[in-house]
This record gives sequence, C-alpha cells and structure tokens, in this order.
Amino acid sequence: MEQLVIDGGHALSGTVKISGAKNAALPMLASTLLAQGTFRLQNVPNLKDVSTFIKLLEELDFSFKKEDNGDLLVDSSGLSCHEAPYELVRKMRASVLVLGPLVARLGKAKVALPGGCAIGARPIDFHLKGLELMGAKLKLQKGYVEAKARRLSGARIFFDIPSVTATENLMMAACLAKGTTVIENAAKEPEVTDLGRMLKAMGAKIRGLGTETITIEGVKELSPAQWKIIPDRIETGTYLMAVGAAGGKLRIENTVPSHMEAVMQKLRDAGLTIDIREPDTIMVKRRKNLRSVDVRTQPYPGFPTDLQAQMMVLMAIAGKLSVITEIIFENRFMHVAELRRLGADIKIEGRSAIVRGVSSLTGAPVMATDLRASACLVLAALAAKGTTTVGGLHHLDRGYEKMDIKLAAAGARIRRVALATEEPE
Ligand code: EPZ
Repeated sequence: MEQLVIDGGHALSGTVKISGAKNAALPMLASTLLAQGTFRLQNVPNLKDVSTFIKLLEELDFSFKKEDNGDLLVDSSGLSCHEAPYELVRKMRASVLVLGPLVARLGKAKVALPGGCAIGARPIDFHLKGLELMGAKLKLQKGYVEAKARRLSGARIFFDIPSVTATENLMMAACLAKGTTVIENAAKEPEVTDLGRMLKAMGAKIRGLGTETITIEGVKELSPAQWKIIPDRIETGTYLMAVGAAGGKLRIENTVPSHMEAVMQKLRDAGLTIDIREPDTIMVKRRKNLRSVDVRTQPYPGFPTDLQAQMMVLMAIAGKLSVITEIIFENRFMHVAELRRLGADIKIEGRSAIVRGVSSLTGAPVMATDLRASACLVLAALAAKGTTTVGGLHHLDRGYEKMDIKLAAAGARIRRVALATEEPE
C-alpha cells in the first residue's frame, strides 16, 4: 500500500505538461474492436485505467506493442472472444464501452454489468435501450448482459440525459449498422467529439459531432487508423486549481484552452489570474485571496462534474460562503467528510454543499474514496498548514499520470511512501 506525504503551505512555481485524456483514451481503445489490423495511438496516458483496458482487450486476443517514442500499436487481428469478464469490468466501469463495438463487429457480446461505484448507481440503461432500438436481442443474467444481432440497423435514439459513454458506445455501434442512426441529446464532451473524429479517420460517416444531434450512416467495414489522443482537460483543471489551493503560479503546457472555458471563467471569478499565451499553454497565478463563488456542475460545455471536488477545496479557503451543486451524479460528495477532517466547514443540503470559507486548513491523515476525490485531497493537503497523508492512491493512479512527480517538480513538498499493509482493491 502506498500513501502521499504532503507538507502544505508551499506556493507552486514551474511548468506542468498535461498527459493524454483518460476519458478519450478508453473509448479510443474500444474503437479498435471495430476494424481488423494495427492501429497507432499517440499521446496515450500512462494510467492504471488504460492498462486495465489493455488487459481487457488482451483477453479478447488483441496484441499490443509500446514503441520507444511512447506510441501504442494495437493489433486487433486476433479478435475472437466476445466476453468482457467481471473481474476486469468491476475495476473499471468504462469496460462497458466494448459492448457496442463487439455487437457491431462480431454480432454478439457478453459483458459483465458494471456495479455501482462510490459516486452513484451509474446505470447503463441508455446503452442497453439504444442497442435494442438498433435491433440487438439482450439477455440479462447472472450479472452479465448478453447482446446478439446478425447486423445492427440504424435507429433514432433519444437520451433523457446526455450520457458520455452511452453516446460513445452507440456511436461506435452505429458505424457498422445497416442504415442511419440519429442520436438526440447526445453528449458534446471533447472526448466524444475526438472519438468521432477518429472513427471518421477509420472510414465512418458521422455528422453533428459536438452538437446534441449526431448522425451516423452505417458502412460495411472500417479500417485501422493512427490517432493522437487529446490532452486531458480534467487534469488541466486540476492543476489550475492546485495553484488556487497552494498559491504561486504554473505554466500548464500540452493542453487545449478552448476545452476549459467554463472552468477558466469560474476560476477568474474566484480571483485567479489566467492567461493564454500560446495555443496549447495556460499561465495561472494566484496573487490575492480567493473569492467565494457558486458552482453548478453541467454537461459540457458547462462546469465539469469531474472538477467539482477539486473546486470545493478552493471554496473551503475562500472568503465567504459558496454553494456547490452537483447535478450529474447523486453521490459525489464523498470527499466532504475527508475535507472536514482538515478543518473545512461544509454542510450538505440535498444536491448542494454549502461551503463556508475558513482562514486555513490543517494537515491530517485522510483517505481517498474515488478518483477525483483523491485529487481533491491532494490539493487540500497543498493548502493545509502542516503535514497531510493521503491514502487510497489506487484511486489517484487510475486517472492521474505521476501527479506527485509533476507537483514535486513544481515546488510542492510531496512524496510517495510505501506502507506495510496491502492496498484494498
Ligand atoms: C463519463 O462517465 C466519464 N467517464 C466520467 O468521468 C464523467 O464524470 C461523466 O462522463 C460525466 O461527465 C468516462 O468517460 C470513462 P454519463 P459516464 O453516462 O459516461 C446517468 C472520471 O472521473 N446515466 O455521462 O458513466 C448517470 O447515472 C469519470 O474520469 C443513466 O442514467 O457518465 C449520470 O447521472 C467519473 N443511464 C448521468 O447519466 C445510463 O445508461 C451522466 O452520466 C448512462 C448514464
């Protein structure tokens, strides 16, 4: 088991390079199921979730080769098996992204149903409903969903909520369906749009990417492609907020400022100075005390739910009172109890957290409960007076590449130490 030991109260100063986006890399790995041959993926982040997804595809007889320059070659020629086992799916819910491509490519799929997770029930009813509308016959038994279809047919699918992975799953399935599929109320996240661009590079016919209506005209076959994964906007936002928490300044490189508009606006309102100097670089500094602002999570292009916990740290040390409302997931305040241990004054009222700023947080041992909560606790530790230990690093390593190393290089007093006992899975 490992934990981070952080001595807070030291301002940041330096440069951080952003890695490829986890939530783009995972659907892109799934999309390699759609065509036979070797794909080249560039800017693949070195994350636990990515290696879990690679393991899952190896179970389906894929082979992989990592080149010296970091490129990942994905050879899908061996594809034979159509089953995604529970022990991998339970570790990473994004495994459900193999469902649509497998049915489209092999005519059948057997995927373990992802359980709930710390942040909510996270059902996959939109994914299943969409496949049924496209003609798949589904059987749910013993914790698995089995889907069969000689060939999927185009359909009109309307999401109650713009679901990111449901949009991705069904967009991939629709690429090989007979006829045209229209997805209404589709997700507009940059990761969805970039997946669509990669599918078009593979020969798919897709219109409306980045809007709420995506139209896919099915084709008979797709071919492998080479694709560079977009930078991680949630990692970018996390480092912007690290400056909010610790003070100082950072130069954040290899990112896409245009993916960050809602976040940058909110952080400027909170008192951070944010400048865009070059197309892929954001300069951020905290010169004065933070101002309390209200936050309401939204689907893209609104304020992302994946940055809600990190923003709460800034509001915990801001001037007055802030209301943070989480409308995407029903249980994404698990970090509040841990922040309270560091001296934060936060009350939960339904879907909102009422955050009253305190003059400072104080270091203490805390335990991460989920991926973005772990990042929030690291930021809180940077802000707190004294030493904080953060446990549950298996959560952090799922979605952040070398976060401790990147922060240490920017002046944070942070180190990863091994502990005797085993990390709970
Ligand atoms: C994706 O999850 C991201 N994961 C999440 O990031 C992110 O928080 C989320 O989108 C929202 O932006 C990946 O892309 C791998 P949704 P996803 O379907 O697709 C409900 C992280 O930290 N819903 O957009 O699972 C659902 O319960 C992770 O990187 C249904 O009801 O989220 C939620 O309330 C956490 N039925 C809402 O829609 C469904 O079939 C939005 O969820 C699907 C979703």
